[in-house]
Amino acid sequence: MPDDVNSKRLRSTRWFGGTDRDAFMHRSWMKNQGLPQHLFDGRPVIGICNTWSELTPCNAHFRRIADFVKRGVFEAGGFPLEFPVMSLGETLMRPTTMLFRNLVSMDVEESIRANPLDGVVLLMGCDKTTPSLLMGAASCDLPTIGVSGGPMLNGKFRGHDIGSGTHVWSMSEDVRAGKMSLADFIDAESCMHRSAGHCMTMGTASTMASIVEALGIGLPTNAAIPAVDSRRYVLAHMAGRRIVEMVREDLVMSKVLTREAFENAIRVNAAIGGSTNAVVHLLALAGRVGVPLALDDFDRCGHGMPLLVDLLPSGRFLMEDFYYAGGIPAVIRELGELLHGGALTVTGRTLGENAAEAQCWNREVIRPLAQPLQANAGIAVLRGNLAPDGAVIKPSAATPSLMRHRGRSVVFENIEHFKARVDDPALPVDETSVMVLKGAGPRGYPGFPEVGNMPLPRKMLKRGITDMVRISDARMSGTAYGTVVLHISPEAEAGGPLALVKDGDFIELDVEARRLHLDVSEVELARRTAAWKPSPTPYDRGYARLYIDHVLQAHQGADLDFLVGKSGASVARESH
Ligand code: FES
Repeated sequence: MPDDVNSKRLRSTRWFGGTDRDAFMHRSWMKNQGLPQHLFDGRPVIGICNTWSELTPCNAHFRRIADFVKRGVFEAGGFPLEFPVMSLGETLMRPTTMLFRNLVSMDVEESIRANPLDGVVLLMGCDKTTPSLLMGAASCDLPTIGVSGGPMLNGKFRGHDIGSGTHVWSMSEDVRAGKMSLADFIDAESCMHRSAGHCMTMGTASTMASIVEALGIGLPTNAAIPAVDSRRYVLAHMAGRRIVEMVREDLVMSKVLTREAFENAIRVNAAIGGSTNAVVHLLALAGRVGVPLALDDFDRCGHGMPLLVDLLPSGRFLMEDFYYAGGIPAVIRELGELLHGGALTVTGRTLGENAAEAQCWNREVIRPLAQPLQANAGIAVLRGNLAPDGAVIKPSAATPSLMRHRGRSVVFENIEHFKARVDDPALPVDETSVMVLKGAGPRGYPGFPEVGNMPLPRKMLKRGITDMVRISDARMSGTAYGTVVLHISPEAEAGGPLALVKDGDFIELDVEARRLHLDVSEVELARRTAAWKPSPTPYDRGYARLYIDHVLQAHQGADLDFLVGKSGASVARESH
């Protein structure tokens, strides 16, 4: 090991260096794993933060990815140590994984800080596993590199490609409309998810993996290599090598996660048709590193950004196609001057340098800048008396004719009310109605679930209606689509104006004017405000209670108020 590394007194030498009683304890117990003495000679100790779990199918292959990271770490002269953190499986966890994003971030932060680590590799895949690990690691601010687990291979069903989530939504609507048999629906189950990896649409997992790359906190091509492609394992190996160098260079997370990096992420998110969930995750991550970022930055930075990538749910193709077409490096090169090409990345080079030689191999999947799929694809931030602190809509996934709309509201007070009422033949709804869901924000549900893309009433589907304006304080899956206004802030449960909407009120949506308006007189709204009371909650203890008491609103990233910021990696006291 070169002297410069040892002379820098790596953080880990405070545990593993020396000959006193504490150093004996730190090394001796570790040696029960068959670790030889020379691994404790002052070389960089690299934590591999693993979200492997059989309850998180998207991350179930991560032990193997960790093995390849270890190869790279050893090869570069480091000492890898894998450790688990709570894993968040999107498809199984109740009431929603988002309730636990901040909890996992605490697990990650404290696991890193409490242990003898000099650098960290974050293994991330299923939706919330990416932001939670980035947030926790950012609050420690060690050299850190993100490795995503990769998307599944394309779903294949009866000669057609089908995509995670997106086709679940559309096929289930077809079943409800009587256009698809239940037997065919069940048959599609085995055809949609047929390999290791996360959702292969441009849902939240693929969006966040792309953002890892756009932020510069992952290696180029991180986002799109399929999980089962051998090059995914090469990437993991190279990340293991690189993190050892990053420790030697003291390339800590905050040197990469700058304001420019966040602006790049917002712009790339627009160009790929990425998930609205990126908004809350980037706001929360920026809060951890101390980069000023506000909801309006998404509109300002995303304004005029072209949609270049033709992937579901905004377009036609899937992540496997995206990788073969050139992936994020090709998008970054295509965007050129629209990005801050000088932003530093974990490679030690800039974003622009990393993508300088990137090629596009399929112009149907990644369009040239001069011929975008859509000219203005950035997430739009709406305001008005219904969303004083903002709301968002994803124009690339919406119906153009509904982007300016006035209609009477059909109100669902909470998700149970929605489920009980939506298919009632007597529901006073037509295609001009605006569906309104309350009680699905951070505090109200609790946990800010992905229920904003409410299924349409059966009687609408039977009439061939495929989209209606839907508004709520919820999020929606990144795989979902429709003219869906989300993240209304303040949420209904915090006493936001959304709580005051009643059946039959007129609501006006004007995306171009960035307006969301409840057409009810101020006098009447004041009367309803005086009569409003928060709903009783059954959560009187434990983490859910802590979350409800401390969660910030959507426009602030829904982090816990006491987690904003960072504390670094120092720990003053020994354990014995
Ligand atoms: Fe895990 Fe979609 S369910 S990424």
